[in-house]
Amino acid sequence: MTHRLDVLFQPGRIGSLTVKNRLVMSSMYTAMCHPDGGVSTELVDYLVERARGEVGLILTEAAAVTDDGRPSVGALNVSDDRFVPALARLADTVKINGAAIGLQLGHCGPQKSSGILPVVAASPVPWKSLVPRELSVEEIRDIVRAFGQGARRAKLAGFDLVELHAAHGYLITSFLSPRTNRRNDGYGGTPANRLRFLIDVLCEVRREVGDGFPVTVKLSAIEYVEDGLTLEESLRIAERLEAEGADAIHVSAGSHDAWDFEVPPHYKPLAMNVPAAAAVKAAIRIPVMVVGSMGEPEVAARAVATGEVDFVVLGRALLADPYWPRKARENRPEDIRPCIRVNDGCFARGISALRPVGCSVNFAAGRESSVASEDLPRAPESKRVAVIGGGPSGLEAARVTALRGHVVTLFEREPELGGQARLASTMPFKQDLLRYVAYLTTQVQKLGVTVRHESATLAVVQALAPHVVILATGGVPYRPTIPGIQATQVVDVLAALRSEPAGRRVAVVGGGQAAVEIAAHLSERGREVTILHAGASVGDDLNPHMQAHMTRILTRVRILTGAVLHSVTDAGVTIVDQSQAHRHVDCDAVILAIRSVPLVELERPLREAGLELRKVGDCRLPRLIMDGVHEAYRTASSI
Ligand SMILES: Cc1cc2nc3c(=O)[nH]c(=O)nc-3n(C[C@H](O)[C@H](O)[C@H](O)COP(=O)(O)O)c2cc1C
Ligand code: SF4
Repeated sequence: MTHRLDVLFQPGRIGSLTVKNRLVMSSMYTAMCHPDGGVSTELVDYLVERARGEVGLILTEAAAVTDDGRPSVGALNVSDDRFVPALARLADTVKINGAAIGLQLGHCGPQKSSGILPVVAASPVPWKSLVPRELSVEEIRDIVRAFGQGARRAKLAGFDLVELHAAHGYLITSFLSPRTNRRNDGYGGTPANRLRFLIDVLCEVRREVGDGFPVTVKLSAIEYVEDGLTLEESLRIAERLEAEGADAIHVSAGSHDAWDFEVPPHYKPLAMNVPAAAAVKAAIRIPVMVVGSMGEPEVAARAVATGEVDFVVLGRALLADPYWPRKARENRPEDIRPCIRVNDGCFARGISALRPVGCSVNFAAGRESSVASEDLPRAPESKRVAVIGGGPSGLEAARVTALRGHVVTLFEREPELGGQARLASTMPFKQDLLRYVAYLTTQVQKLGVTVRHESATLAVVQALAPHVVILATGGVPYRPTIPGIQATQVVDVLAALRSEPAGRRVAVVGGGQAAVEIAAHLSERGREVTILHAGASVGDDLNPHMQAHMTRILTRVRILTGAVLHSVTDAGVTIVDQSQAHRHVDCDAVILAIRSVPLVELERPLREAGLELRKVGDCRLPRLIMDGVHEAYRTASSI
């Protein structure tokens, strides 16, 4: 193997453990455990799929060392010996499938998402509406012992290592961070005192597992909150951890108060923790791992090749594609399905105590026990399938249908595939979408789908004599019928993405994701932007993380809510405001981004011609990419 990614496939060492490559799966809560936190078959199948994908080391989601240290019902639990047999089955099955496995040991401390009581922390510093109770010294010692017992159980169950979860604002961070540790006993005050709890935990764990059993520590090297942990202090922490016998430091960032550093979304750069990890590496001799948007194979390879880190840790990238490592090893990066970092399926709108982790671009994620993500079963009979529309839903429908052995023709009237996702990716903070479109485009080409860049009329479709037609024509921006709407300065959001409208002052009409994003984009490009929205608040259809971010970057945008568009004039627009008064808003260009309406003009003729028709994506109902892509997978799997 002599390609540029081969550096990722050299074996690496963490203490006494040899890992077959430099790729580690990051801990991710799955909500897949039994209600008491015991390992379920679904969790085993989910992790085994990643082992088959050839990741070198799998780190489980945080396993709580005390029963009340679980963030929510269904989170992994290692607080009692009764959990050991199922943990052993997990470790054994993952190892048989080729990966090493480490158990992450944690205690959620103040950051609880469900009502398991009590909520405890270093100090009673509130998190959201929760005010934790300050732990007594006796309780601290009990929890230190619980970490030791958790490590003992992990070793007993056959895990290859344990990782201490000292990142992301949970209990250990609540001690480390000057922001949340207000104690004035031996566990607070000076940096050495704030570090004491973690060192006690490390020493107790070492005492239980003995020398030679690898113990790693995950740190948020920079907390990115006011008065939070700085890199400078984290370097000293890493040095001390090395001195006390840690075998590797795993560098992350942020906390639940700085989500977009903990689980970086698409508007954050790739590999954003590498500089901090490189600084940690320069300060210590034990291996350093880095996590946080490392999912681009070349970016991952560069971090190892330059010696900045020893291991690359992948979280969401392995949700999106469990076979990332194998495809990289085979030098097929174009076959890796990229994570689009919108955090919908895995996080904001996917996971809950009642719903396991999922992924917008990988329907199989979280369903490994019943759905294949890679080698899909072939259909009993090969059919001719016409897919109309080359956006993500149409492309996914074409990909899955072709994978199952059907003969597929895809119609797209634009010269390039990708639909509105491609257009949206012209905004710099939506670049991840372009990678996803590129992946889908490559896959349909490799699978032999015939792509015809033309309008699919009834006659054209009928000429194919398809057994099934999948309509994936998407939606179009709604255009209200008001005076002046035909004026040349009025364009819809898609046209504005194709060609930026002229003029300094821009009015964006609408308040959903499309409106907010184009407003933010144009504002960043120096335009004076006003959002005119009939509703009470903007961005309500964004997930909470994106909403928080957009609110921040919309600070330079004027937002008028309760503003109903009345007419367009030569000098701007007239709105009717909340008091029913008519107001004029000066602007040079008007962008319509009110809502999307399904584009279904072909539906009737196709149905009347007696063709079997399925609709997927926005032409059924405008929704999230996740909804369209999942619908496409389901539909294509049923043909
Ligand atoms: C659904 C979800 C659950 C997570 N649960 C954990 C966890 O249990 N322990 C942990 O250390 N990090 C957890 N994280 C953070 C990830 O391990 C990782 O640090 C973060 O997602 C950034 O890496 P990525 O960009 O590769 O996804 C979680 C992230 C996600 C998306
Ligand atoms: S749901 Fe989105 S952010 Fe989460 S893993 Fe999948 S593609 Fe990535």
